[in-house]
Amino acid sequence: MFKINNLTYQYDKKRKALDNISMDFDKGDIIGIIGSNGSGKSTLFNNLMGILKPTEGEILYKNNKLKYDKKSLYNLRKDVGIVFQDPEKQIFYSMVYDDLAFALRNIGLDRKNIKVRINKALEAVNGEDFIDRPVHSLSFGQKKRVAIASVIAMENNLILLDEPTAGLDPESTKAIVEIIKSMYNKGKKIIITSHDMNLIYDICDYTYVLNKGKIIVEGKVEEVFINEEKIEEAGLELPWLVKLNKNMDLPLFRKEEDLYNYWSENFGMNLNKIAK
Ligand SMILES: Nc1ncnc2c1ncn2[C@@H]1O[C@H](COP(=O)(O)OP(=O)(O)OP(=O)(O)O)[C@@H](O)[C@H]1O
Ligand SMILES: [Mg+2]
Repeated sequence: MFKINNLTYQYDKKRKALDNISMDFDKGDIIGIIGSNGSGKSTLFNNLMGILKPTEGEILYKNNKLKYDKKSLYNLRKDVGIVFQDPEKQIFYSMVYDDLAFALRNIGLDRKNIKVRINKALEAVNGEDFIDRPVHSLSFGQKKRVAIASVIAMENNLILLDEPTAGLDPESTKAIVEIIKSMYNKGKKIIITSHDMNLIYDICDYTYVLNKGKIIVEGKVEEVFINEEKIEEAGLELPWLVKLNKNMDLPLFRKEEDLYNYWSENFGMNLNKIAK
């Protein structure tokens, strides 16, 4: 998949938005990229999609250096889908159906298949009702779900999600988490940025922490989040399950359910007895 060697990106001469970063996306199946505002996450994604070109360093996809001619970018984007942080950037047509159909027509699908894929994709984001709506009439969260539907419909092998749950209500957030998990179960590879540390802790297996364009720590999620100093340096917060481990002397649980099971196994009986 993607391998990044010593990538530096500068929008202008003064500052480096990305500063000599190296990454290997074969290190995990669902990879998290975390960092505070302005740390370079979206700039990184734009470099991966070939929207921006590295100032220095190189990006390899399937062992080949990215090329920027029309055909190479078309092939890359057939394989790699992105959900931009800002859904407005993603949506080109005024009607939801036309917008979703555009990319599918581009890859040569016929009308019938396009319809099937769009219906399935909108269903996955609980957005069946959007199908005949003008895009401008949708709320921010609804537009975001349409943008996610568009990568589901494309059936890309690798999906970049830039803040996919920002601005979504709890039910939509849950739906997106389920979608990410089911994409993973279908063998897709997912790279996700988020400010929601609980989300990253829940679904990712490997994570990179960016701070002012540099990677300050990387590794398996449970190893990275135990490193409170680096998480604080990056201006981020520990996931709540890690806080419980740090502050209450409880084991480090990976899932909420693990905590509940541990609790009922160790204390549940006693508490019940006391209550009686
Ligand atoms: N078009 C641009 N022109 C100049 N500087 C830019 C441009 N886009 C981003 N930057 C700068 O590059 C740096 C990285 O920005 P980027 O958008 O990649 O951060 P981010 O980690 O995605 O932040 P956020 O969490 O707010 O989405 C920031 O300092 C930002 O001000
Ligand atoms: Mg961003």
